[in-house]
Amino acid sequence: MHGLRKSAFGAAPLIGVAVVMSSAAFAQSAPSAAAASPGDPVHGKTLYQACESCHSINENDVGPKHRGVVGRHAASIPDYSYSPALKNSGLTWDEATLNRWLINPSALVPGTKMFFKIDDAQSRADIIAYLKEQK
Ligand code: HEC
Repeated sequence: MHGLRKSAFGAAPLIGVAVVMSSAAFAQSAPSAAAASPGDPVHGKTLYQACESCHSINENDVGPKHRGVVGRHAASIPDYSYSPALKNSGLTWDEATLNRWLINPSALVPGTKMFFKIDDAQSRADIIAYLKEQK
């Protein structure tokens, strides 16, 4: 399992490149922070697999653990080493801030070390609905 995780992270820069390439087209379609229809947490759990190259619900990994993330202040897991940018962001994670984060973390928090985004509004809503259940 460890090897699998490692290789999944190894592929992350490629994901980053694909994201950059698609972002021009994405910008033209005027990304909006508007929520899609109510999120489906069951589908969100499946989509969350994309986050699991770097995150898990219960353990810090490349990224911080996610249990209880909805409603907590950004960068508040004490034993995770956050970027100064996220530490100083003053954000609280709710549906609106998480949506903006997943549209483009670097746009919301310039200098963050998370480089991953979800272009599809419904997918973002589904993932956020799943995270809301991980209290
Ligand atoms: C390529 C690795 C990677 C992937 C994939 C990734 N993240 Fe992250 N994430 C990070 C890193 C690194 C941080 C810490 C950012 C910082 O300190 O600036 C982070 C931070 C976060 C935070 C802030 C948590 C806190 O405690 O303040 C949230 C929320 C988050 N990620 C959600 C997600 C979601 C949801 C997904 C999947 C759609 C995802 N991430 C995919 C690497 C990743």
